[in-house]
Amino acid sequence: MMHTDRDTIINDNAMTQIAVSMLAADFLHLEAGVQLVNRNADLFHLDIMDGVFVPNISFGFPVVEAITSVASRTVDVHLMIVHPEKYVERFASAGADMLSFHLNAVESPEAMLDMIHGCGMKAGIAINPDIPVERLFPYLAGCDFLLVMSVFAGFGGQKFIEETYGRISALKTEIRRQGLECLIEVDGGVSDRNAGKLSLVGADILVAGSAVFNAPDPAAEIAAMRGR
Ligand code: DX5
Ligand code: ZN
Repeated sequence: MMHTDRDTIINDNAMTQIAVSMLAADFLHLEAGVQLVNRNADLFHLDIMDGVFVPNISFGFPVVEAITSVASRTVDVHLMIVHPEKYVERFASAGADMLSFHLNAVESPEAMLDMIHGCGMKAGIAINPDIPVERLFPYLAGCDFLLVMSVFAGFGGQKFIEETYGRISALKTEIRRQGLECLIEVDGGVSDRNAGKLSLVGADILVAGSAVFNAPDPAAEIAAMRGR
């Protein structure tokens, strides 16, 4: 798998990046959705749900591989599955550049972070809105990014939870206190309406699905989220 220009994107911390959740794409015209992201966004956000860790099933390897075969942007895979450690290598081979798992889905977050790094991917830990951000603090040094859920994982199109702002700023403060560079990604109910404030409190990557794909002009929605 080539990790060329995709790898460099995550290091550009100067500006908020936009990740598009493909869960909200038109699956009958998936390539059009992929090209939209290639042309206008920074990352593909791929939500993997197993119907066990979350009460919903999304898509698997055939869809991920179809997307990565034409993706020219960073591919960020968000695992919402039990035993994520079983699938690290498969997602690396399928073309993932970044891989996140939920804190409460594993016994040893450190071992999982090492496994992801061993497969050449950026590693992140995700937490649902009911998990205190302090639970992430012991693992920050081993993370390239943190995925802060602003809705409960499982479904696209949910309402943004306002408490997320305070959680991001607390996490950012701790990242700085520890002298780390890990990025904060926020996921769920994000749109041009809350993007500015999210960037302001410390979010580095904004994930949006329905706001982009349900917009009359998806490229304009992405631009609006960037504040342009
Ligand atoms: C929720 C997923 C999100 C979701 C975002 O479980 O992790 O990535 O697809 O979709 P919107 O932007 O529609 O909330
Ligand atoms: Zn997600």
